[in-house]
Amino acid sequence: MALAGIDFLPGPVLLLGAPGVGKGTQAQLLVTKYGIPQISTGDLLRGNIARGTELGLKAKEIMSSGHLVDDEIVNQMVLHRLQEKDTHRGYILDGYPRTLEQAKFLDHTIADPVYLPRLPVIAISIMVTYDQLLRRITGRRTCPSCKHIYNIYSNPPKVADVCDFDGTRLMQRTDDTKPVFIERMKTFDVQTAPVVAHYHDQGRFEEADGNQSVEVVNVAIEQAMLNLRSAFR
Ligand code: AP5
Repeated sequence: MALAGIDFLPGPVLLLGAPGVGKGTQAQLLVTKYGIPQISTGDLLRGNIARGTELGLKAKEIMSSGHLVDDEIVNQMVLHRLQEKDTHRGYILDGYPRTLEQAKFLDHTIADPVYLPRLPVIAISIMVTYDQLLRRITGRRTCPSCKHIYNIYSNPPKVADVCDFDGTRLMQRTDDTKPVFIERMKTFDVQTAPVVAHYHDQGRFEEADGNQSVEVVNVAIEQAMLNLRSAFR
């Protein structure tokens, strides 16, 4: 299968999908290959919580209940991040947009050609079964320093609870419990599934089967990016 070379211009790419489908894992691979940034609203919010900012204080309780942070807060956070210079060849939006309000903001404000790169947004939705998602969420461990994502079942570190790359002790997210996962899935079904349908209806959209290995899913996502970007420039 002919995948894109490193000179491929990805433009803005949305990775859509339920909690634990592998958006962050796949975004990290695309960042390494294409040198474009991953913009994860979850990571930006967790960064605010870690720094104890006013925004972090507002977000903390909402995130630990499995609900969504206010659209206005998240929209402004993304708009601000996209003004940094590293987005000129493209970027991966991971976990945004998550409501139709956010999608409207992306389509009409952020995706305005005044913001680089001047390419239309393309969207890839990753699909994984419910049982597999629960296993992935409860088995996830993350390096708080380099942000590498592990899984105690499918991708454990060489030494239990220690990052392979920098030796930092791995962490488990406070929202990665079964009860919060159930709430996050309900939130996804009610508020984010319509966003997936919205981009499906726009046509610049493909689905990827996320039930396969990380490597197989990565090939499918790169192929989808190539197909969509060849068709929409
Ligand atoms: P966020 O951090 O965005 O969480 P999420 O969308 O629920 O997604 P996850 O990070 O849980 O999963 P992922 O798809 O990235 O999977 P990963 O690659 O890590 O949001 C958290 C909270 O912040 C929200 O609930 C909300 O409160 C708030 N928030 C964030 N964005 C917001 C927004 N736009 N608006 C309002 N509120 C917002 O993989 C999961 C595990 O599976 C890992 O252990 C990994 O190793 C493993 N894995 C990955 N791929 C595979 C594979 N192919 N095979 C086997 N294992 C795999």
